[in-house]
Amino acid sequence: MMPGDSDGGVGMPEDDAESEINRAVRILRDGGLVAIPTETVYGLAADASNPVAVRRLYEVKGRPPGHPVIVHIAGVQPLPRWAARVPEDARRLAEAFWPGPLTLILPRTLAAVDEVTGGRETVGLRVPDHPLTLALLRAFGGGVAAPSANRFGRVSPTSAEDVRADLGDDVDLVLDGGPCGVGVESTIVDCSEDGETPVILRPGGITAEQIEAVLGHPVRRTPDGPSRAPGMLPAHYAPHAQVVVVEDLDAALALAAKQAQAGDRAGLLTPRAVAVPPGVMALVGGDSPEAYAATLYDRLRAADRLGLDVLIAVPPPAEGVGVAVRDRLARAAAGSEPKGGGS
Ligand code: TXA
Ligand code: MG
Repeated sequence: MMPGDSDGGVGMPEDDAESEINRAVRILRDGGLVAIPTETVYGLAADASNPVAVRRLYEVKGRPPGHPVIVHIAGVQPLPRWAARVPEDARRLAEAFWPGPLTLILPRTLAAVDEVTGGRETVGLRVPDHPLTLALLRAFGGGVAAPSANRFGRVSPTSAEDVRADLGDDVDLVLDGGPCGVGVESTIVDCSEDGETPVILRPGGITAEQIEAVLGHPVRRTPDGPSRAPGMLPAHYAPHAQVVVVEDLDAALALAAKQAQAGDRAGLLTPRAVAVPPGVMALVGGDSPEAYAATLYDRLRAADRLGLDVLIAVPPPAEGVGVAVRDRLARAAAGSEPKGGGS
């Protein structure tokens, strides 16, 4: 189903949605895998209380073991099942931003098994803001462990088609909830140390400024460079095309022209549409940081659909969700193989 159909953006009519949710619940209870829509990216869900199902998640993703996964819950109510303590700051953030693109790292209970926490004493928890998935979580009753529904290291999926293209038959059901509105993963905030300032481990849909406004005090931010969230390697989110980030539009245009002249299939990703040099493919991110975030992963996938050798990206300013877009572009650049210079 395409966005814009008369389904309120949920992806399917109500009756179909209900039977799909029932199917999804059965699959989860049987230890299967269901791709779920969220406002950030699609997740690959397994029953978080079933270690065998969670291990299958890792296999399908091709993710090395020992990486923790986020447990998705239906609201603040199930928090005590998963979190041994909820510090005041965490409670305020949960109340302000759930359902929404915020993951809280908290001290775990024994319900959070080692397969979920990667053997850590903490657990990542989030309430996704998507009607289909919230309905699924309520019907299922438990928590679902869900990393992004892509193979390890690749671009996160922001539509049901993306999931099918990447995971194929390895997923038992794809719940189609339409395109993801936010488009980049949740902001991860570590609140696990009682009495310590919360730390943003991964920038995302909720900005540091929004968090600080709710808490009334500063938080610590991960400086540029490798993020502290385990499994957030500097090289990640990578298409097959080489990604080069260039801040200045004129410099980016010049580089794109040079690459095209050298015989490379070159693309230029810019916030707004610009006239590009001959032989260069134009891709538009979006005029606002929010619009850029919502299209980012589709544009990275488009680079591969177009068979580009190199994608030159002019990032959005480091404002709002633009911080997260710049983070993902930097990782895509670190994770892609150089193919320039006709070599
Ligand atoms: O928006 C999102 O967060 C999406 C959707 C599907 O909810 N999920 C997502 O999951 O991005 P994933 O597995 O691709 O990334 C989760 C990140 C990992 O980098 C992991 O290291 C971190 O969360 N994480 C999970 N549990 C953690 C913990 N206990 N301590 C520190 N980091 C944790
Ligand atoms: Mg991921």
